Amino acid sequence: MSSAIGYKCMSCGFEKEMTDKITYVCEKCNSNLEIVYDYSKIKEQATKKFFEENKNYNMFRYFHFYPLEEKTTRSPLQVGWTPLYRTESLGKKYGCPNLYIKDEGKNPSGSLKDRAGSIALAKSFEFKAKKVAGASTGNAGSSMACLCASVGISPIIFVPKTAPKAKIAQLLLYGAKVIAVNGTYDMAFDLCHDICEKYGWFNRNTGYNPFTREGKKSCSFEICEQLGWKAPDWVVVSVGDGNIISGIWKGFKDLYNVGLIDKLPKICAAQSEKSNAVVKSVKNSTLENIKIETISATTLADSISVDLPRDGIGAVKAVLESNGTCVEFSDEKILEALKEISSMTGIFTEPAGSASIAGFKELAKQGLFKEDETIVCIATGNGLKDVDSAMKVAGTPHITEPSVEEAIKVIQES
Ligand SMILES: Cc1ncc(COP(=O)(O)O)c(C=O)c1O
Ligand SMILES: [Zn+2]
Repeated sequence: MSSAIGYKCMSCGFEKEMTDKITYVCEKCNSNLEIVYDYSKIKEQATKKFFEENKNYNMFRYFHFYPLEEKTTRSPLQVGWTPLYRTESLGKKYGCPNLYIKDEGKNPSGSLKDRAGSIALAKSFEFKAKKVAGASTGNAGSSMACLCASVGISPIIFVPKTAPKAKIAQLLLYGAKVIAVNGTYDMAFDLCHDICEKYGWFNRNTGYNPFTREGKKSCSFEICEQLGWKAPDWVVVSVGDGNIISGIWKGFKDLYNVGLIDKLPKICAAQSEKSNAVVKSVKNSTLENIKIETISATTLADSISVDLPRDGIGAVKAVLESNGTCVEFSDEKILEALKEISSMTGIFTEPAGSASIAGFKELAKQGLFKEDETIVCIATGNGLKDVDSAMKVAGTPHITEPSVEEAIKVIQES
């Protein structure tokens, strides 16, 4: 039996039991819901000894923390247990030798979204969904399509028609029905919502579906275990809808609640100044009075280009409850960070991933971090997903004729 006991509204606190039908939002105030657990039950089973003996290196090694029954069908792909690299030289450049990067591009479809999709897919089986659908800037959809392909089903995915080619290629090749919307991600989101409501399909939409956060939190479980069951001092997360950051925060709180870590990190939200709804919302909110702002997003980091953050309350709570902070920067800084992280660490991440490094650099320059503190940046997606953006800062190769003399001359002159 799962230790999940119900839903709780993130705004008004209204609680509801789990039934065999999915509940997406609060029936009293329409806000997002979070999943509530019986932590005393998890604590009995999820011990350090259990993890020492558990050789199952993927996100399901933390099975006790998910709202899933043991026998539910899951994707057989390896999601999670991505590398956490200590990137000392990059860190030292900014006075932080204990800088780590979690390389989420190593997941099956190349982004952290596979964690969310894994739980959402399994829940769609538990709820006996007749159809799975979702809206996406590209990654959530290609992830859902990937995981669905691994169990032989085809989801319906709504994306803005401007989504990067590689993400569209993934979607099509994995066999999803791809609906490219002539409009923004937010329009695709609303369209998917309306269709799912009308036809009773399982809606995987980020933030709206309360189960996506439950998968994303697994990233924090791994960070702590990889650091020897210690939480870092800081975690820097790039933010669009705010579901990753709220999942990251929930993961740390889950581990704290069962005594697997003894302190919580501070969480930093990193956003492009061309998609800064969460930064603005944090500025205008207190924990007692959270106000979510809407903007008109235009950042080149497509995965974090969001007008209305659909897990905005969760994102604001992650920053405020953890005593963290927010940071915003130009798109140029995102590309600069992309080049720097590639050349200094060998990790190739898409612009939304390098946004966390751009945020780290900015905060380090402001003197936020102490030299002995541990900082984790999350490189949320693989660089191959958006090669056009990468090429903006990659430079050009040196052309030569296929002759040794000619090539040596070019090498010496370059
Ligand atoms: C690579 C990548 N980074 C960051 C994000 C932002 O996550 P969220 O929208 O949950 O804030 C996304 C979301 O699509 C993503 O795909
Ligand atoms: Zn409510």
